[in-house]
Amino acid sequence: MTYREKYFQLQKLNNKYLNLSAIKTLLQHDGNFKEFFNLINHFDDEINDEKTLDEYILRVSNGEPLQYVIGEAYFVNSNYYVTPDVLIPRQETEELAVATLKMIVKMFGKEPKIKIVDIGTGSGILGIYLKEYFKNSHVICTDISEKVLQIAEKNAKAHNVEIDFRKGDMIEPIKEEEKVDVIISNPPYIGDKSTVDPQTLKYEPHLALFASPKTKYYEKIMSLIDTFVLNDKFLMAFEIGEDMKDELTHIIESKYKGIMYKFEKDIYGKDRYLYIVKNEGITYVA
Ligand SMILES: C[S@@+](CC[C@H](N)C(=O)[O-])C[C@H]1O[C@@H](n2cnc3c(N)ncnc32)[C@H](O)[C@@H]1O
Repeated sequence: MTYREKYFQLQKLNNKYLNLSAIKTLLQHDGNFKEFFNLINHFDDEINDEKTLDEYILRVSNGEPLQYVIGEAYFVNSNYYVTPDVLIPRQETEELAVATLKMIVKMFGKEPKIKIVDIGTGSGILGIYLKEYFKNSHVICTDISEKVLQIAEKNAKAHNVEIDFRKGDMIEPIKEEEKVDVIISNPPYIGDKSTVDPQTLKYEPHLALFASPKTKYYEKIMSLIDTFVLNDKFLMAFEIGEDMKDELTHIIESKYKGIMYKFEKDIYGKDRYLYIVKNEGITYVA
């Protein structure tokens, strides 16, 4: 069967998981076509491995996330390996990565020799993305799970970047004398299982999703503000749950009065990011 025949056959199935984007991705994956136009250029070629493709189609049509089926996910500008041990990268996290990159440039310059820590790195996306841009930086990626770190290490290799991977509970792998300039984190922040989409609940790692109370990991990371672990000038960049602004504001105002912070919205207008900054002389970081 050709790609053209399969493309139209799959569209006719009207399966909610096999949307156009999933069909294109599955066919591109089979032919190792990096871009959609490569698939179009080979539209009348025979499918490369139809047996495997059909197995993948069946799994996706039964609700298994496409990224786990093909073993990779797209993040900002490139592909990363994923397995069911790691969270599938989300669009909200792409926004965090790009905005944090811009803030780092503003605070530290374009080629800074800074220390960046990505806490709860999962597939490694945030740390690897920043290391690819800030080549002179020292990037530490941490996670509590060995299996997760193995995927992140595989991604660092594939992206040809050197990352300092460390296993441990939240801030525990960061040493006191380290003098960290940037902390970026998308920690687990879901408190209530009933708010989670059933496909996510069934297939994605609960270790990556849930926290009780849901602010617990933010509080843990913020506790570094009062230590010598951070440099005099620093940036903390967090992804947060859309309903967490008030609780986090209360924590900051009661424990870290006077620190500069701001919440930012995602493209849907929801409060999804928290930035905490210590930057002498700068009153606002855009
Ligand atoms: C929401 S996921 C984020 C993964 C990745 N940074 C991303 O944005 O896609 C949270 C990650 O934190 C890790 N994690 C959970 N509890 C942790 C802990 N106590 N200490 C360190 N990492 C933890 C999970 O294994 C998971 O990889």
